Amino acid sequence: MRMIFLGPPGAGKGTQAVKLASKYGIAHISTGDMLRYHVKNGTDLGEKAKAYMDSGRLVPDDLIIEMVKERLEEEDAKRGFILDGFPRTVNQAEALEVLLKSKDITLDAVVLFDVDEETLVRRLSGRRICPNCNAIYNVHNSDYPEDGRCKRCGNGLIQRDDDRPEVVRRRLKVYEEETAPLLDYYRNKGSLISVDASSESDAVLYAIVSLYGGKD
Ligand code: AP5
Ligand code: ZN
Repeated sequence: MRMIFLGPPGAGKGTQAVKLASKYGIAHISTGDMLRYHVKNGTDLGEKAKAYMDSGRLVPDDLIIEMVKERLEEEDAKRGFILDGFPRTVNQAEALEVLLKSKDITLDAVVLFDVDEETLVRRLSGRRICPNCNAIYNVHNSDYPEDGRCKRCGNGLIQRDDDRPEVVRRRLKVYEEETAPLLDYYRNKGSLISVDASSESDAVLYAIVSLYGGKD
């Protein structure tokens, strides 16, 4: 499986990418998770990215493209991948196209996670993540752990810095301005498939697996 997950913040891209990557034994390439790792570990890239992320703006394309290029070289990515949160600009999409062409790789689909804004805001305000293993939870969902600890690794769950209301508003605006143009970009190439991502999580998973058609 080789897919791009496209959609606004809080649409559920990460939630589904984790499940599919584990189901098919492929790479979950989340540029957001990778950047948060760099920020947490105080790397050069993390230092450069932090201010952009904290204010809800996009990190410069050249830093992101280089990071994804390296990640695609890893073994699990050779079996397949889900790009979650990348590309985010037309510039990034063009760079990815060149990269994939040079490796003779074709994509199965570009999946648009379609969700109304009210649902997005509710999901983002209730989101809690595990800073240790990146697991994603939501206080509004029935499977939220009562003790506020990650079910996978036991670490305390936290709210992402950029899930504060004022940053969420900025991220939604940045999505409309810089990432939404990608919908036409991929529509024109005939690879965009829209999924109703406002339904419950298993239904969204089923929709994506169905459009993949059970291929390996
Ligand atoms: P990133 O981490 O990519 O954030 P995002 O795209 O804004 O997406 P989110 O992680 O907010 O949402 P999601 O769709 O994954 O939703 P999730 O599954 O968590 O980017 C963060 C920052 O990094 C950016 O602002 C930017 O600064 C930088 N960055 C990253 N990539 C970049 C790039 N390519 N270029 C430049 N800068 C970049 O779900 C949300 C919540 O809803 C969770 O609580 C979940 O439990 C819940 N939920 C999910 N699905 C359902 C469902 N079906 N029903 C009920 N609840 C659900
Ligand atoms: Zn965890």
